[in-house]
Amino acid sequence: MNNNITRRDWLNKSATVLGSSFVGAIAGFNPLLGNTKGSTVVNTPIRMMFNENPYGPSQVARKAMRKAFSESNLYSMRYAKAEFKILMAKLNGVTPEHIAVGFGSGEILKKAALMNGIDKGELISPALTFETINRFAKTMKSNVKRIPMDNKIGIDLDRTAESVGSRTKLIYLCNPNNPTGSIMGTDQLESFCKTMSKKSIVFVDEAYHEYVTDPNYRSMINLVKKGHNVMVSRTASKVHGLAGLRVGFAITTPEIAKRLESYLTDSLNVIGLRAAIASYQDERFQAHSVEQNNRAKKIVTNHLDNKGIEYLDSQTNFIFIKTGMNIAEFQPAMEKNGVIVGRPFPPYNKWCRLSMAKPEEMENFNTGMDRVLG
Ligand SMILES: Cc1ncc(COP(=O)(O)O)c(C=O)c1O
Repeated sequence: MNNNITRRDWLNKSATVLGSSFVGAIAGFNPLLGNTKGSTVVNTPIRMMFNENPYGPSQVARKAMRKAFSESNLYSMRYAKAEFKILMAKLNGVTPEHIAVGFGSGEILKKAALMNGIDKGELISPALTFETINRFAKTMKSNVKRIPMDNKIGIDLDRTAESVGSRTKLIYLCNPNNPTGSIMGTDQLESFCKTMSKKSIVFVDEAYHEYVTDPNYRSMINLVKKGHNVMVSRTASKVHGLAGLRVGFAITTPEIAKRLESYLTDSLNVIGLRAAIASYQDERFQAHSVEQNNRAKKIVTNHLDNKGIEYLDSQTNFIFIKTGMNIAEFQPAMEKNGVIVGRPFPPYNKWCRLSMAKPEEMENFNTGMDRVLG
Protein backbone atom coordinates (compact mmCIF):
# COMPACT_ATOMS: atom_id res chain seq x y z
CA MET A 1 0.00 0.00 0.00
CA ASN A 2 1.35 3.38 -0.96
CA ASN A 3 1.64 5.41 2.21
CA ASN A 4 1.35 8.63 0.28
CA ILE A 5 -2.14 7.90 -0.98
CA THR A 6 -4.42 10.96 -0.68
CA ARG A 7 -7.77 10.92 1.04
CA ARG A 8 -9.46 11.58 -2.34
CA ASP A 9 -7.61 8.62 -3.91
CA TRP A 10 -8.67 6.47 -1.04
CA LEU A 11 -12.29 7.57 -1.25
CA ASN A 12 -12.30 6.92 -5.01
CA LYS A 13 -10.80 3.50 -4.49
CA SER A 14 -13.15 2.59 -1.70
CA ALA A 15 -16.28 4.00 -3.35
CA THR A 16 -16.96 0.72 -5.09
CA VAL A 17 -17.10 -1.17 -1.82
CA LEU A 18 -18.74 1.47 0.37
CA GLY A 19 -22.14 0.08 -0.53
CA SER A 20 -21.26 -3.09 1.31
CA SER A 21 -20.65 -1.16 4.56
CA PHE A 22 -16.92 -1.01 4.00
CA VAL A 23 -15.30 0.95 6.84
CA GLY A 24 -11.84 1.60 5.54
CA ALA A 25 -9.43 -1.17 6.30
CA ILE A 26 -7.28 -1.40 3.18
CA ALA A 27 -4.15 -3.16 4.44
CA GLY A 28 -4.00 -1.10 7.61
CA PHE A 29 -4.62 2.19 5.85
CA ASN A 30 -7.42 4.51 6.87
CA PRO A 31 -7.64 8.03 5.42
CA LEU A 32 -8.41 9.59 8.77
CA LEU A 33 -6.27 7.42 10.98
CA GLY A 34 -3.31 7.36 8.61
CA ASN A 35 -1.37 4.13 8.31
CA THR A 36 -2.50 2.07 11.26
CA LYS A 37 0.04 -0.72 10.76
CA GLY A 38 2.77 -0.84 13.38
CA SER A 39 5.92 0.67 11.88
CA THR A 40 8.99 2.57 12.94
CA VAL A 41 8.91 4.79 9.88
CA VAL A 42 6.82 7.96 9.85
CA ASN A 43 3.29 7.06 8.80
CA THR A 44 1.55 9.25 6.27
CA PRO A 45 -0.71 11.08 5.94
CA ILE A 46 0.15 12.58 9.30
CA ARG A 47 -2.78 13.98 11.23
CA MET A 48 -2.06 17.65 11.90
CA MET A 49 -5.65 18.85 11.71
CA PHE A 50 -7.65 18.12 14.85
CA ASN A 51 -5.35 19.22 17.72
CA GLU A 52 -5.03 15.67 18.99
CA ASN A 53 -2.34 14.23 21.21
CA PRO A 54 -0.19 11.84 19.15
CA TYR A 55 1.00 10.01 22.31
CA GLY A 56 -2.27 9.15 23.99
CA PRO A 57 -3.71 7.22 25.65
CA SER A 58 -0.93 6.82 28.22
CA GLN A 59 0.13 3.34 29.36
CA VAL A 60 -1.49 4.09 32.72
CA ALA A 61 -4.80 4.97 31.03
CA ARG A 62 -4.59 1.87 28.81
CA LYS A 63 -4.11 -0.31 31.87
CA ALA A 64 -7.14 1.28 33.54
CA MET A 65 -9.19 0.70 30.38
CA ARG A 66 -8.17 -2.96 30.21
CA LYS A 67 -9.22 -3.34 33.82
CA ALA A 68 -12.52 -1.61 33.09
CA PHE A 69 -13.38 -4.13 30.35
CA SER A 70 -14.53 -6.50 33.08
CA GLU A 71 -16.83 -3.82 34.51
CA SER A 72 -18.53 -3.27 31.17
CA ASN A 73 -21.50 -5.49 31.93
CA LEU A 74 -22.29 -3.47 35.05
CA TYR A 75 -24.02 -0.12 35.55
CA SER A 76 -20.89 0.95 37.36
CA MET A 77 -20.46 4.17 35.40
CA ARG A 78 -22.41 6.06 38.05
CA TYR A 79 -19.76 5.22 40.64
CA ALA A 80 -17.00 5.98 38.17
CA LYS A 81 -18.63 9.33 37.41
CA ALA A 82 -18.85 10.17 41.11
CA GLU A 83 -15.19 9.16 41.50
CA PHE A 84 -14.22 11.31 38.53
CA LYS A 85 -16.03 14.31 39.97
CA ILE A 86 -14.38 13.84 43.37
CA LEU A 87 -10.97 13.65 41.71
CA MET A 88 -11.56 16.71 39.51
CA ALA A 89 -12.75 18.62 42.57
CA LYS A 90 -9.68 17.62 44.54
CA LEU A 91 -7.24 18.45 41.74
CA ASN A 92 -8.82 21.87 41.26
CA GLY A 93 -9.48 22.86 44.87
CA VAL A 94 -13.29 22.91 44.65
CA THR A 95 -16.09 20.63 45.86
CA PRO A 96 -17.67 17.91 43.69
CA GLU A 97 -20.78 20.12 43.58
CA HIS A 98 -18.75 22.57 41.49
CA ILE A 99 -18.19 19.91 38.80
CA ALA A 100 -20.47 18.97 35.90
CA VAL A 101 -19.38 16.24 33.50
CA GLY A 102 -19.92 16.08 29.77
CA PHE A 103 -19.36 13.80 26.79
CA GLY A 104 -16.18 15.72 26.09
CA SER A 105 -16.06 19.42 26.89
CA GLY A 106 -17.93 19.85 23.60
CA GLU A 107 -21.03 18.70 25.41
CA ILE A 108 -20.46 21.26 28.16
CA LEU A 109 -20.35 23.93 25.46
CA LYS A 110 -23.60 22.65 23.98
CA LYS A 111 -25.31 22.46 27.35
CA ALA A 112 -24.27 26.02 28.15
CA ALA A 113 -25.87 27.08 24.85
CA LEU A 114 -28.92 24.98 25.71
CA MET A 115 -29.24 26.62 29.13
CA ASN A 116 -28.86 30.06 27.54
CA GLY A 117 -31.47 29.19 24.92
CA ILE A 118 -33.95 28.05 27.57
CA ASP A 119 -33.35 31.35 29.38
CA LYS A 120 -33.90 33.18 26.06
CA GLY A 121 -30.50 34.78 26.41
CA GLU A 122 -28.15 36.24 23.84
CA LEU A 123 -24.68 34.76 23.42
CA ILE A 124 -21.61 36.92 22.83
CA SER A 125 -18.48 35.34 21.43
CA PRO A 126 -15.37 36.29 19.45
CA ALA A 127 -15.53 36.34 15.65
CA LEU A 128 -12.71 33.80 15.43
CA THR A 129 -12.98 30.99 17.94
CA PHE A 130 -14.05 27.38 18.50
CA GLU A 131 -17.47 27.17 16.89
CA THR A 132 -19.38 24.50 18.84
CA ILE A 133 -21.15 26.85 21.26
CA ASN A 134 -22.11 29.30 18.50
CA ARG A 135 -23.53 26.53 16.35
CA PHE A 136 -25.58 25.10 19.17
CA ALA A 137 -26.83 28.54 20.20
CA LYS A 138 -28.13 28.92 16.64
CA THR A 139 -29.85 25.54 16.96
CA MET A 140 -31.50 27.00 20.07
CA LYS A 141 -32.50 30.02 17.92
CA SER A 142 -30.56 32.33 20.24
CA ASN A 143 -29.16 35.63 19.07
CA VAL A 144 -25.38 35.26 18.70
CA LYS A 145 -23.31 38.45 18.65
CA ARG A 146 -19.81 37.97 17.25
CA ILE A 147 -17.13 40.45 18.30
CA PRO A 148 -14.40 41.31 15.76
CA MET A 149 -10.85 40.35 16.69
CA ASP A 150 -8.34 43.05 17.62
CA ASN A 151 -5.55 43.98 15.22
CA LYS A 152 -3.35 41.14 16.51
CA ILE A 153 -6.15 38.57 15.94
CA GLY A 154 -6.64 38.52 19.69
CA ILE A 155 -9.94 38.48 21.59
CA ASP A 156 -11.05 42.08 22.10
CA LEU A 157 -12.25 42.21 25.69
CA ASP A 158 -13.02 45.95 25.67
CA ARG A 159 -15.26 45.60 22.66
CA THR A 160 -16.84 42.48 24.14
CA ALA A 161 -17.65 44.39 27.34
CA GLU A 162 -19.18 47.24 25.34
CA SER A 163 -21.43 44.77 23.49
CA VAL A 164 -23.00 43.26 26.59
CA GLY A 165 -26.65 44.24 26.75
CA SER A 166 -29.71 43.46 28.84
CA ARG A 167 -30.40 40.28 26.82
CA THR A 168 -26.85 38.89 27.17
CA LYS A 169 -26.84 35.84 29.41
CA LEU A 170 -23.73 34.06 28.17
CA ILE A 171 -20.29 35.30 27.12
CA TYR A 172 -17.95 32.72 25.61
CA LEU A 173 -14.19 33.22 25.73
CA CYS A 174 -11.68 30.58 24.74
CA ASN A 175 -8.34 30.85 26.54
CA PRO A 176 -6.03 29.89 24.89
CA ASN A 177 -8.14 30.54 21.85
CA ASN A 178 -8.67 28.11 19.00
CA PRO A 179 -7.58 28.51 16.16
CA THR A 180 -5.14 31.26 17.12
CA GLY A 181 -3.44 29.45 20.03
CA SER A 182 -2.93 32.72 21.87
CA ILE A 183 -3.97 33.77 25.36
CA MET A 184 -5.56 36.91 26.72
CA GLY A 185 -3.80 39.09 29.29
CA THR A 186 -4.59 37.41 32.60
CA ASP A 187 -5.19 40.56 34.65
CA GLN A 188 -7.43 42.02 31.98
CA LEU A 189 -9.37 38.76 31.62
CA GLU A 190 -9.77 38.44 35.37
CA SER A 191 -11.11 41.95 35.74
CA PHE A 192 -13.40 41.41 32.72
CA CYS A 193 -14.81 38.23 34.28
CA LYS A 194 -15.34 39.89 37.66
CA THR A 195 -17.27 42.81 36.18
CA MET A 196 -19.17 41.02 33.43
CA SER A 197 -20.21 38.05 35.56
CA LYS A 198 -22.45 40.45 37.45
CA LYS A 199 -24.50 40.78 34.25
CA SER A 200 -24.06 37.44 32.50
CA ILE A 201 -22.45 34.04 32.86
CA VAL A 202 -18.87 34.21 31.62
CA PHE A 203 -17.74 30.91 30.12
CA VAL A 204 -13.98 30.43 29.76
CA ASP A 205 -13.07 27.40 27.66
CA GLU A 206 -9.69 26.11 28.89
CA ALA A 207 -9.39 23.03 26.67
CA TYR A 208 -5.67 23.73 26.13
CA HIS A 209 -4.89 24.88 29.68
CA GLU A 210 -2.25 22.20 30.32
CA TYR A 211 -0.18 23.22 27.29
CA VAL A 212 0.27 26.85 28.34
CA THR A 213 3.87 27.82 29.07
CA ASP A 214 3.42 31.60 29.53
CA PRO A 215 4.22 32.28 33.22
CA ASN A 216 1.67 35.10 33.33
CA TYR A 217 -1.24 32.81 32.48
CA ARG A 218 -3.76 31.86 35.17
CA SER A 219 -6.86 29.73 35.00
CA MET A 220 -10.18 31.43 35.77
CA ILE A 221 -11.03 28.65 38.24
CA ASN A 222 -9.96 31.02 41.03
CA LEU A 223 -12.96 33.18 40.23
CA VAL A 224 -15.29 30.18 40.45
CA LYS A 225 -13.84 29.51 43.89
CA LYS A 226 -14.70 33.08 44.90
CA GLY A 227 -18.30 32.55 43.83
CA HIS A 228 -18.33 34.57 40.61
CA ASN A 229 -20.83 33.64 37.92
CA VAL A 230 -18.09 32.00 35.84
CA MET A 231 -17.83 28.63 34.10
CA VAL A 232 -14.57 26.97 33.10
CA SER A 233 -14.45 23.89 30.86
CA ARG A 234 -11.66 21.34 30.65
CA THR A 235 -11.17 18.18 28.65
CA ALA A 236 -9.46 14.79 28.72
CA SER A 237 -9.16 14.99 24.91
CA LYS A 238 -6.00 17.07 24.61
CA VAL A 239 -3.04 16.62 26.96
CA HIS A 240 -4.48 13.28 28.12
CA GLY A 241 -4.96 12.00 24.57
CA LEU A 242 -8.43 10.56 25.20
CA ALA A 243 -10.40 12.40 22.50
CA GLY A 244 -12.14 9.25 21.30
CA LEU A 245 -13.46 8.45 24.77
CA ARG A 246 -15.39 11.73 25.20
CA VAL A 247 -14.69 12.93 28.72
CA GLY A 248 -14.87 16.58 29.70
CA PHE A 249 -16.15 18.68 32.56
CA ALA A 250 -17.06 22.12 33.79
CA ILE A 251 -15.96 23.82 36.98
CA THR A 252 -18.55 26.37 37.94
CA THR A 253 -20.91 27.47 40.69
CA PRO A 254 -22.92 24.64 42.28
CA GLU A 255 -26.11 26.22 40.84
CA ILE A 256 -24.84 26.17 37.26
CA ALA A 257 -23.23 22.74 37.70
CA LYS A 258 -26.57 21.37 38.88
CA ARG A 259 -28.35 22.80 35.86
CA LEU A 260 -25.73 21.45 33.45
CA GLU A 261 -25.93 18.02 35.06
CA SER A 262 -29.71 18.05 34.77
CA TYR A 263 -29.34 18.30 30.98
CA LEU A 264 -27.12 15.20 30.79
CA THR A 265 -29.14 12.74 28.75
CA ASP A 266 -27.27 9.72 30.11
CA SER A 267 -24.01 8.82 31.80
CA LEU A 268 -20.50 8.65 30.40
CA ASN A 269 -19.19 5.15 29.77
CA VAL A 270 -17.11 3.35 32.36
CA ILE A 271 -14.06 2.77 30.15
CA GLY A 272 -13.73 6.46 29.34
CA LEU A 273 -14.20 7.49 32.94
CA ARG A 274 -11.70 4.94 34.28
CA ALA A 275 -9.16 6.03 31.66
CA ALA A 276 -9.63 9.68 32.58
CA ILE A 277 -9.39 8.98 36.33
CA ALA A 278 -6.09 7.20 35.73
CA SER A 279 -4.73 9.73 33.27
CA TYR A 280 -5.41 12.79 35.42
CA GLN A 281 -3.23 11.20 38.10
CA ASP A 282 -0.49 10.32 35.64
CA GLU A 283 1.61 13.48 35.86
CA ARG A 284 4.52 11.91 34.00
CA PHE A 285 2.50 11.36 30.87
CA GLN A 286 1.08 14.88 30.95
CA ALA A 287 4.56 16.34 31.35
CA HIS A 288 5.83 14.14 28.50
CA SER A 289 3.00 15.28 26.21
CA VAL A 290 3.72 18.93 26.94
CA GLU A 291 7.47 18.49 26.50
CA GLN A 292 7.10 16.72 23.14
CA ASN A 293 4.58 19.32 22.04
CA ASN A 294 7.04 22.10 22.83
CA ARG A 295 9.77 20.29 20.89
CA ALA A 296 7.43 19.87 17.92
CA LYS A 297 6.48 23.55 18.00
CA LYS A 298 10.14 24.58 18.09
CA ILE A 299 10.92 22.53 14.97
CA VAL A 300 8.16 24.33 13.08
CA THR A 301 8.70 27.83 14.47
CA ASN A 302 12.46 27.67 13.82
CA HIS A 303 11.69 26.80 10.22
CA LEU A 304 9.04 29.51 9.92
CA ASP A 305 11.46 32.05 11.41
CA ASN A 306 14.15 31.05 8.89
CA LYS A 307 11.66 31.47 6.08
CA GLY A 308 10.28 34.76 7.43
CA ILE A 309 6.76 33.31 7.61
CA GLU A 310 4.43 34.95 10.12
CA TYR A 311 2.65 32.96 12.82
CA LEU A 312 0.93 33.68 16.13
CA ASP A 313 2.41 32.88 19.53
CA SER A 314 1.03 29.49 20.45
CA GLN A 315 0.22 28.38 24.00
CA THR A 316 -1.43 25.21 22.72
CA ASN A 317 -0.73 22.12 20.63
CA PHE A 318 -1.30 23.96 17.35
CA ILE A 319 0.08 27.01 15.54
CA PHE A 320 -1.82 29.51 13.38
CA ILE A 321 0.43 30.23 10.41
CA LYS A 322 0.11 32.89 7.73
CA THR A 323 1.16 30.82 4.72
CA GLY A 324 -0.04 33.47 2.29
CA MET A 325 -1.66 30.74 0.20
CA ASN A 326 -5.41 30.19 0.20
CA ILE A 327 -6.14 27.31 2.55
CA ALA A 328 -8.46 25.80 -0.10
CA GLU A 329 -5.28 25.21 -2.16
CA PHE A 330 -2.81 24.74 0.67
CA GLN A 331 -4.72 21.96 2.40
CA PRO A 332 -4.97 19.53 -0.57
CA ALA A 333 -1.42 20.37 -1.66
CA MET A 334 -0.14 19.46 1.80
CA GLU A 335 -2.18 16.30 1.79
CA LYS A 336 -0.38 15.27 -1.39
CA ASN A 337 2.79 15.73 0.65
CA GLY A 338 1.55 13.40 3.35
CA VAL A 339 0.30 15.94 5.89
CA ILE A 340 -3.34 16.76 6.71
CA VAL A 341 -3.59 20.31 8.06
CA GLY A 342 -6.53 22.17 9.61
CA ARG A 343 -9.66 23.41 7.90
CA PRO A 344 -10.32 26.96 6.65
CA PHE A 345 -11.04 29.67 9.25
CA PRO A 346 -12.62 32.45 7.20
CA PRO A 347 -11.92 35.30 6.77
CA TYR A 348 -8.34 34.22 7.59
CA ASN A 349 -8.18 32.22 4.39
CA LYS A 350 -4.45 32.63 3.90
CA TRP A 351 -3.73 31.16 7.29
CA CYS A 352 -3.39 27.53 8.29
CA ARG A 353 -4.00 25.95 11.70
CA LEU A 354 -1.34 23.32 12.14
CA SER A 355 -1.72 20.76 14.93
CA MET A 356 1.46 19.32 16.40
CA ALA A 357 2.29 15.70 15.68
CA LYS A 358 5.41 13.99 17.07
CA PRO A 359 8.61 16.05 16.78
CA GLU A 360 10.10 13.56 14.30
CA GLU A 361 7.03 14.03 12.10
CA MET A 362 7.18 17.82 11.99
CA GLU A 363 10.01 17.80 9.41
CA ASN A 364 7.43 16.34 7.02
CA PHE A 365 5.41 19.50 7.45
CA ASN A 366 8.46 21.70 6.95
CA THR A 367 9.59 20.00 3.74
CA GLY A 368 6.01 19.68 2.47
CA MET A 369 5.38 23.38 3.10
CA ASP A 370 8.62 24.34 1.31
CA ARG A 371 7.52 22.33 -1.71
CA VAL A 372 4.00 23.74 -1.71
CA LEU A 373 4.93 27.39 -1.14
CA GLY A 374 7.90 27.12 -3.51
C1 LIG B 1 -11.34 25.15 22.36
C2 LIG B 1 -11.97 23.82 22.36
N1 LIG B 1 -12.95 23.57 23.21
C3 LIG B 1 -13.55 22.37 23.27
C4 LIG B 1 -13.19 21.37 22.40
C5 LIG B 1 -13.95 20.08 22.46
O1 LIG B 1 -13.17 19.06 22.85
P1 LIG B 1 -13.79 17.74 23.50
O2 LIG B 1 -15.26 17.76 23.21
O3 LIG B 1 -13.09 16.64 22.83
O4 LIG B 1 -13.52 17.86 24.95
C6 LIG B 1 -12.16 21.58 21.48
C7 LIG B 1 -11.77 20.51 20.55
O5 LIG B 1 -10.96 20.62 19.69
C8 LIG B 1 -11.54 22.84 21.45
O6 LIG B 1 -10.57 23.13 20.59
